[in-house]
Amino acid sequence: MTTTVITNIGSLVTNDPALGDGTPIGLLQDAAVVIDGDRIAWVGPNADAPAADEAVDAAGRAVIPGFVDSHSHLLFAGDRTQEFNARMSGRAYTAGGIRTTVAATRAASDEALEANLTHYLREALRQGTTTFETKSGYGLTVEDEARALRIAARHTDEITYLGAHIVPPDYADDPAAYVALVTGEMLDACAPYARWVDVFCEKGAFDGDQARAILTAGKAKGLHPRVHANQLSYGPGVQLAVELDAASADHCTHLTDADVDALASSETVATLLPGAEFSTRAEWPDARRLLDAGVTVALSTDCNPGSSFTSSVPFCIALAVRDMKMTPDEAIWSATAGGARALRRTDIGRITPGARADLVLLDAPSHVHLAYRPGVPLVSDVWRQGKRCP
Ligand code: NIG
Ligand code: FE
Repeated sequence: MTTTVITNIGSLVTNDPALGDGTPIGLLQDAAVVIDGDRIAWVGPNADAPAADEAVDAAGRAVIPGFVDSHSHLLFAGDRTQEFNARMSGRAYTAGGIRTTVAATRAASDEALEANLTHYLREALRQGTTTFETKSGYGLTVEDEARALRIAARHTDEITYLGAHIVPPDYADDPAAYVALVTGEMLDACAPYARWVDVFCEKGAFDGDQARAILTAGKAKGLHPRVHANQLSYGPGVQLAVELDAASADHCTHLTDADVDALASSETVATLLPGAEFSTRAEWPDARRLLDAGVTVALSTDCNPGSSFTSSVPFCIALAVRDMKMTPDEAIWSATAGGARALRRTDIGRITPGARADLVLLDAPSHVHLAYRPGVPLVSDVWRQGKRCP
């Protein structure tokens, strides 16, 4: 197996407090990293770096773990430019816009859906994302949900069944029948491809009882829950996520004190998606309140054509720092180690011996520049599973 040593790393984010300066991001100055095959083999001071088959000189620049984007919706066709344009002229965002994408997605061929997916995956990889989760939710028939997940399964292991995104127009008069489909035939068709089950628990989508039935049915089929919770209004989503030991409660924009307390005393990660608040001109989730209460926070893109059409984790980090008052250290941790926690993974999101060799070399001396230089393409090189990406 080929070994590679990256030398002269000015600043290395390891996310291992024991390896670095004792802070959660485990920062090491003047460091080197050795990759062996698809794994990190060694991390330490540059002066002690062992020889390897290949050497890369970081020339004083920063290296960080690859981003773990634990929440995206990339199985879709079409776009919603007009809806965004209208919103920027004052119209409100509602769950109803999802129907436009459902119609376009149903009409698309398998080839078109997969080409769209790979387009956004390449875009994300170029911006440093080395692990991504993605969901169904724009098919909303047994066949269309299953084919979305079948296509996704060719590109990632982190796949979420979101048949319960909205009640589709064809079931508008009988939502109970749609819940029966989502928990029955559609679940049977989708479960073989998925690791996770999700529900949009929101006014205009699914209420608490429906969401509980959907997540419980998914659990019985071996899928683990995650929940679109408390995005557009207060509601039962976060409490339900905690009750069912969901890996994450996503959005968390409208939280009561009881919601925050429930998250703080659970293993459920709060996944914040500032691209959605940016693109819908909504109020920011209160990241400080969550962090100060001891909640584990992940940062992700929510990339989708309706509420957050960005594949850029660096953009989300900049928003989180500027507008959600996270420190640069908290934001980088949440976009890497936090994302890994939200996917209940221990092999990614850190640069430590034995971890998967997912690394990003920045054209900057420090990870702080991701927020300090917003909108600038700072990703120089990406290694995914030990392979340098073209
Ligand atoms: O996470 N909230 C539900 N789903 C997406 C938006 C979907 C859409 O508008 O197409 C979200 O924001
Ligand atoms: Fe989402």
